[in-house]
Amino acid sequence: MVFGACYYPEHWDRSEWAHHAKLMREAGFNTIRTGDFVWGLVEKEEGIFDFSYLDEAIGVLAQEGIKVVLCTPTAAPPKWLVNKYDVLQRDRYGRKENWGTRRECCANSEEYRIRSVKIAEEMAKHFAHNENVIAWQIDNEFGCHNSTHCYCENCRKAFSKWLEKKYGTIDSLNRTWGTVFWSLQYSSFADVILPVYNACEPENAHGWSHNPSLDMEYRRFASDSWVHFQKLQMNAIRKYTDKPVTHNFMGHFSDIDYYNLAEELDFVAWDNYPDNQWGESEYEYVSMAHEIMRGLKDRNYIVAEQQSGPCGWDTFGATPEPGQLRLWTHQAIAHGGEGILYFRFKTLPYGMEQYWYGVLDHDGLPRRRYYEIQKTGEELKKLEPYITGVKNNYDVLIVRSYDNIWAHQIKRHTKDFDYESLLYSYYKANVDLNIDTAVSMGKYTDYKVVYMPGYNIVHPEEMNKIEEFVKNGGTLVTTFRSGTRDAYNNLLTTTLPCAFASLAGIEVEEFTALRKGVHIEGIVNSEVKMWCDVIRPVTAKVLSIYSEGYFKNKAAITVNVYGKGRVYYIGCDLEEEALKRLVRHIGERCGIESMDTPEGVEIVRRDGCVIIMNHNDHKIQTGINGTSLISGQNFDGTLEAYGVEWIVAE
Ligand code: GAL
Repeated sequence: MVFGACYYPEHWDRSEWAHHAKLMREAGFNTIRTGDFVWGLVEKEEGIFDFSYLDEAIGVLAQEGIKVVLCTPTAAPPKWLVNKYDVLQRDRYGRKENWGTRRECCANSEEYRIRSVKIAEEMAKHFAHNENVIAWQIDNEFGCHNSTHCYCENCRKAFSKWLEKKYGTIDSLNRTWGTVFWSLQYSSFADVILPVYNACEPENAHGWSHNPSLDMEYRRFASDSWVHFQKLQMNAIRKYTDKPVTHNFMGHFSDIDYYNLAEELDFVAWDNYPDNQWGESEYEYVSMAHEIMRGLKDRNYIVAEQQSGPCGWDTFGATPEPGQLRLWTHQAIAHGGEGILYFRFKTLPYGMEQYWYGVLDHDGLPRRRYYEIQKTGEELKKLEPYITGVKNNYDVLIVRSYDNIWAHQIKRHTKDFDYESLLYSYYKANVDLNIDTAVSMGKYTDYKVVYMPGYNIVHPEEMNKIEEFVKNGGTLVTTFRSGTRDAYNNLLTTTLPCAFASLAGIEVEEFTALRKGVHIEGIVNSEVKMWCDVIRPVTAKVLSIYSEGYFKNKAAITVNVYGKGRVYYIGCDLEEEALKRLVRHIGERCGIESMDTPEGVEIVRRDGCVIIMNHNDHKIQTGINGTSLISGQNFDGTLEAYGVEWIVAE
């Protein structure tokens, strides 16, 4: 498996390369990732390419057996490019982006595209036959620093074309979008605006204040623009080499449709920083990020950047405590990681990221973090048969779609509603019960239970698949605001919950965004803080009712038998414990084994083994024992702070 670090030879004196390579080999590393951000160095003037430093560095690394994942450098444009061409993005206020960091360029700038394809092609041509280059990465983190959405003239023109292709006639667009409202009819595709700053914006704190179809289509278009930008480079690379091509994704990031971005790549890679200047992530949140990444292609992935030190840009996050780097690595592997590259090998004294620590500090001396990583690598070697190509035993799926994320961002229902938090609460409830839970979309038949919380846009072909899944015995769990919108982000005009009504066997008589909490009682008791659907069961059975308010005694949670399956409808938000109780109940009805472990303990099951992780900063008795796959000894269930164990499955 790939095990190594991101290493940038151009940052160090040539005389140090051999020493770095030796330290890497001694750490057990076999691969580096490099090349991102070297555009200004390898093409100092337009059309003059010089990769000699890379040739040399790759040669030095090869002497220690270290291979290379080579990135195209298009995330950071050189100064000559912006001096010569108008490639910089415009924001929604019409302001021009400034050069000086990275990711400033527009995906629809022909000038930027041409030069990006050119540098990718030149690199591919040059390194195609270099046996030490084992894979390619296109660009770096599309969309980071809020760069997905650009509002320049190139984008406006490209958007018109994109719309024309989709709608055919402007009448069809006008009809579909309902532009008759507020006199927004367009007379041609060239007329269509981008969702820029407008008169209504101050009232909409979230900045999506246009016709909801326009906002939605623009988001799809912007996402497609980056998918296309990636494809141009992918094609250029594949002309010269058949080595695998990837991109480094960003976990929960949601401005780009990651299913589309992943579709033509050979594998997914992603960047994992659980604790940095901007905060510490809950372990379940990181766990979900891994599953989102695995779910993109329903296949294992690699971590292209794994945090390896204290991180920040102008302030620091916490330094990983002893055991944390090992734990984060094992957590990544447990969810489908098949390779780990730590970011970065040696910490840089200059530049924006002088505070972003890597495996080695500024002085380059191996210390605690280096030795912990070295030990982790040795363990992973022993575990290899349980890693490569192995899939976890998932019974549960959380469906996560970008259309839904965007529709909910555009119209949030109530000020406290956040769709991604809703999805996360369902994921967390499952994972806290140690139920292996996948996150993906499109394919339901592999699972016993499919959760579609707040699934408001459901495309007809998807609806058919869900119906088939339930008819054949699957269990679907859905909630308030599901099924309410069409593919163009208009509300449906059938009775709520529209697309899910017959499956759920209910009608929603009315709903309210809450000003003060109410309670429900029944199969689960909970305070409801945000949203109530007042449900009239048609064929469904009532599981919980409201115990106060003018809708007292009306149904809040129902279950309906449909074909051989069941559909749960949850009409309100639930407190964390109540949601966990409900998830446990649903799991039990479906023969899914949940497991209670002390807080902060995460369990993952895969063929032949169980992985036990202690995310607490103290020793814990996990209550699970067996034979350790790492030491071969008996494991009595005790894990040190941030401890990990892999045991043979019973
Ligand atoms: C990632 C990025 C790297 C580096 C790192 C630390 O998001 O891909 O290039 O910037 O963060 O900030």
